[in-house]
Amino acid sequence: MTRKVTKAIFPVAGLGTRFLPATKSIPKEILTLVDRPLIQYAIDEAREAGIKEFIFVTSRGKSALEDYFDDAPELERTLKKKGKQDLLNELQNTNMDSGAIAYVRQNRPQGLGHAVWCARRMLGTNESFAVILTDDVIAADKPCLQQMVEAHAETGGNVVAAMEVPHSKTSSYGILDIAEDMGSMVKVKGMVEKPDADKAPSNLAVIGRYILTPEVMKNLNKIKQGAGGEIQLTDAIAEEIVKGNPVYGFRFRGQRYDCGSKAGFLQATVAFGLQRPDLRDEFSAYLQDALSLQTAAE
Ligand code: G1P
Repeated sequence: MTRKVTKAIFPVAGLGTRFLPATKSIPKEILTLVDRPLIQYAIDEAREAGIKEFIFVTSRGKSALEDYFDDAPELERTLKKKGKQDLLNELQNTNMDSGAIAYVRQNRPQGLGHAVWCARRMLGTNESFAVILTDDVIAADKPCLQQMVEAHAETGGNVVAAMEVPHSKTSSYGILDIAEDMGSMVKVKGMVEKPDADKAPSNLAVIGRYILTPEVMKNLNKIKQGAGGEIQLTDAIAEEIVKGNPVYGFRFRGQRYDCGSKAGFLQATVAFGLQRPDLRDEFSAYLQDALSLQTAAE
């Protein structure tokens, strides 16, 4: 039996420059899909997978994130007085127990591996942990991390979420070198961060959900700068393969949206808007009109 994974690291120190000017004063993790900030989707997914402790790796200018997860007593009082029970429930669902969230600062942006390493003292020495990248929003019947926790309970080792991407896009992802393809699980014999299409070992890309062994954290102690001059999490995981320890890619069931890009964020907004019973009819009628107007104009 593998031990339960109860801690997750959320690297949220990025500057979010792709969303300037919005991110001049708000963290990109607070940008909303319909009415929920990106970070809320990530936290909900983690909770459903059994995560109890949430470790945020932050940076300057991210204090709005800390406030977001605090209780909001004045708002709660007002909603209660006005009898708005639904909104009150919605609000209270976002509260986090005292002590459930820990914040650690990354002083300088030095890559995803470095951000994860900043959380090293918050983990037990023998504890596997999850990493969730909030840019990757995954709509799924069973939340992606929960699928992975279940798979990990069977396999142990390191499990990374994986998805086929167009060959032309390999240079945006960590790419897996496949040793054995077992369908939803893939045994991995190598990992490369952001290879050009002609050097990519496959088109199976790492998506931002990881379950990692404590050894990966130890590897981060000595890993050198990799792709883009940054300390790469991919390299610290690949190091495990070199040592003969198992790494698996997990083809999750669900739809992933790249909310780190404007196009992906807009697609997610449309998809999540269409899923909402309170918005669906009006929104889909609008989209149909907008598209037919556009086609007529062309
Ligand atoms: C990070 C990882 C990369 C992974 C990607 C998934 O890259 O370094 O291996 O494929 O997330 O979204 P980033 O998108 O932060 O550049």
